[in-house]
Amino acid sequence: MMTIRRRGCSPLLCLWASLLPLVAPHGQIHHEPHVEGWPKLLLVSFDGFRWDYIDRVPTPNFRSIMDEGVKVENVENIYITKTLPNHLTLVTGLYAETHGIVANEMYDPILNQSFSMETDSIYDSRWWEQAVPLWVSVQKAGGRSGAAMWPGSDVKIHGTYPSQYLEYNSSVSFETRVQKIIEWFSAPEEEAVDFGVLYWEEPDESGHTLGPQSPLMDAVIAGIDEKLGFLLNELKRSGLDEKVNLIVTSDHGMAQLYPEKIIELDEYVERDTYSWVDKSPVVGILPKEGKLEEVYSLLVDANPNMVAYRKEHIPERLHYQHNVRIMPILLEAKEGWTIMQNRTEHFMLGNHGYDNTLRNMQPIFVARGPGFQQNYVKSSMRSVDLYPLMCHILSIRPLPNNGSLLNVQDLLSSQPTPLAPTPAHPSGPPKPSRYSYAPVVGSFIGVLLVLGFLVVYIIVVTLNQQPVLKHRSWEMSQPLLQEDIQL
Ligand SMILES: *[C@@H]1O[C@H](CO)[C@@H](O)[C@H](O)[C@H]1NC(C)=O
Ligand SMILES: *[C@@H]1O[C@H](CO)[C@@H](O)[C@H](O)[C@H]1NC(C)=O
Ligand SMILES: *[C@@H]1O[C@H](CO)[C@@H](O)[C@H](O)[C@H]1NC(C)=O
Ligand SMILES: *[C@@H]1O[C@H](CO)[C@@H](O)[C@H](O)[C@H]1NC(C)=O
Ligand SMILES: [Zn+2]
Repeated sequence: MMTIRRRGCSPLLCLWASLLPLVAPHGQIHHEPHVEGWPKLLLVSFDGFRWDYIDRVPTPNFRSIMDEGVKVENVENIYITKTLPNHLTLVTGLYAETHGIVANEMYDPILNQSFSMETDSIYDSRWWEQAVPLWVSVQKAGGRSGAAMWPGSDVKIHGTYPSQYLEYNSSVSFETRVQKIIEWFSAPEEEAVDFGVLYWEEPDESGHTLGPQSPLMDAVIAGIDEKLGFLLNELKRSGLDEKVNLIVTSDHGMAQLYPEKIIELDEYVERDTYSWVDKSPVVGILPKEGKLEEVYSLLVDANPNMVAYRKEHIPERLHYQHNVRIMPILLEAKEGWTIMQNRTEHFMLGNHGYDNTLRNMQPIFVARGPGFQQNYVKSSMRSVDLYPLMCHILSIRPLPNNGSLLNVQDLLSSQPTPLAPTPAHPSGPPKPSRYSYAPVVGSFIGVLLVLGFLVVYIIVVTLNQQPVLKHRSWEMSQPLLQEDIQL
């Protein structure tokens, strides 16, 4: 990006470069993205924080975010409701079938490789190249990002790591992660990050071992609220709380499981006829060569608490079909049920992964900051809508995605985020090429309306005067309209 500066330049090139700001004030070369007042954003995920946990015990810190900001009551996350697929959706706005991290455990028949959250395969970039996470886009637009253990953030994706990041290490405390984030946001302006992501493993771990219904979960939830309080205090203490928009959400909820609700695949199908790729409650089954029909017919009506889908018949609404990493047969347990090969496997009292429309699978969502409304409750959103919302806050052009800013626009404060250089910085560096759509879209709609009006007017006038030309004038007006819409 700064090649011209680093290498020095010929007199002619220097002249050209010094004229550039005049002829192309939004050009790439004289990018100075870290203008004071740029909107900043911190996205926090508490793994497995179910939407209703905040009502179980006093959670004053969650409440304070809601009072000063927004809360969404129903957040429909994506299928399957597992950790990696949903974390990647939050930063891409894509369903799993499109972003390619379709499960925590995967097999890719083209790569002929297996992927597991538990192994170093997670660092193999090839698994992550089907989508571009927001931190990469922020950096490509000239901004900076910082990642504290967000899933996938220590992997090189499209050739890029976050500007600042921590390598994943579950032993590093929440407080240390927060201190890093604070350090990165409060660095001198030319080094400070614009976008941060922060991840914490709880309350997911406790939810799995205790089960969400356990009274012991109350203390775990209260502990998360205290951690959030620590983050809020640190933001305040470092003077970031009025500058940084804060979103606190999660990847999924948690369902209570029961030891008597176990489905044993060994009862229905021979182990040597298939391999199973992702585990309960949504299991990817890869039948051995030539065994697809046989394995499917043995599983399809095997157990009333389990559905078996042929890949082609996975319901459209789940958006979980169009990827080679989705296996030829998918088993899905009913909520509360566990799929095993036999009972000797490790049993957990809580799990997630089930249908994303089940209330217990859904996460929390609260946010506050200069970009958000105050004391506002919205009834529902989809987690894919978060990506266009974050792009808007950061003034980043969103890549094609499955969300829509229109669905969540009401969460934003009516006061626009500061985009134009303010009078306080009249001779400041030129504005980076990140931009908001709003003015552009606005002018477009205006132009479209005027053009549409003109076209209708012309048609009406022409029709009135020369009925024979009816067909022709319609044809003439079509391309004009289409061209405008496509721009
Ligand atoms: C896939 O990899 C395995 C080893 O992991 C190997 O045995 C097998 O032959 C490979 N299959 C193909 C089609 O290359
Ligand atoms: C992980 O973090 C812990 C605690 O900070 C540290 O003791 C340990 O050495 C780290 N592990 C690795 C592999 O860096
Ligand atoms: C369950 O599976 C294990 C291997 O995973 C096997 O050793 C054991 O005999 C099986 N138990 C029953 C009851 O089938
Ligand atoms: C999701 O968005 C991607 C990128 O625009 C697109 O290719 C895909 O078809 C979309 N999926 C659905 C279900 O609309
Ligand atoms: Zn999770």
